[in-house]
Amino acid sequence: MFAKNGNDATTICNMIARAHTQKRKILVGETAYHGSQPWANRRAKGTPKEEHVHYPTYRFNDVEDVRRVAKDVQGDLAGIVVSAYKHDVPNTQELVDPVFAREVRRICNAESAPLILDDVRGGLRLSLDASWSEFSVQPDLSAWGKAIANGEPLAAVLGSEAYRDAAASIFYTGSFWYQGAPFAAAIETLNLLNEVDAPTRMEQLGLQFRDGLYEQAQRHGFGIHQSGPPQMPMIEFEDDPKKTKVTTFCANALRHGVYLHPWHNMFLSVAHTEKDIEQALEGTDKAFKEIP
Ligand SMILES: Cc1ncc(COP(=O)(O)O)c(C=O)c1O
Repeated sequence: MFAKNGNDATTICNMIARAHTQKRKILVGETAYHGSQPWANRRAKGTPKEEHVHYPTYRFNDVEDVRRVAKDVQGDLAGIVVSAYKHDVPNTQELVDPVFAREVRRICNAESAPLILDDVRGGLRLSLDASWSEFSVQPDLSAWGKAIANGEPLAAVLGSEAYRDAAASIFYTGSFWYQGAPFAAAIETLNLLNEVDAPTRMEQLGLQFRDGLYEQAQRHGFGIHQSGPPQMPMIEFEDDPKKTKVTTFCANALRHGVYLHPWHNMFLSVAHTEKDIEQALEGTDKAFKEIP
């Protein structure tokens, strides 16, 4: 199914999951971001607690915890939503532990509930397949957005054949969903991403940037930590509880023409080149030097 935003895609996945299983409870990661719809919105303002009654939370990468929460709702489990990896801001990013991924798959199989992968952010950056395919864990339903049409507004829900009838049975639509240009952009984007093996290319560029930053930080006497996959990096400074150092660093870098984010993951792109990374590193070298 197609939609406009990642919000739509994750919400549609949940609706399909419930239509298929006829169950209510959908497990979500305790600080995970799946959009700003009330079900996914963990801020108190404007979102009554009751919106979350059917969304019990588990800790990402914690096998015991996801087992415990699934057991609590046994018999009423409609699905488990997972992030491709832990990328909720402003927390340190964390790659998924394959043991956790396999356990989520096992629970879903045992309970006949879908594994719902939110690939809105990581999709087509970590892999050209669903993000957990690297260790042979496939979702039943997955949500896509951001990269699929290279910035044109388009989102998609993919699902295995078993979910087709449920997908056809739900109602969810929008005025602008059938606009043609984003589809044309998506076809072209997907072809190009395949042609250049985009995830590998972004990873190489990301590693070049990451290695360069570590070298500079050490030379300038700062301890930094870079988390997440190289193609979606996040930078933190040691001994920086209020993020003063990283904010100063990013502000300095901006003055030298390099736009970095102080508390959110960033995105490498296949439009970047090695030369862009070298140029960025020239700016960050100055930015480190100028931290008081
Ligand atoms: C993992 C994830 N899921 C869902 C969304 C929501 O997507 P959108 O902002 O396109 O509605 C986002 C957006 O940042 C996201 O990163």
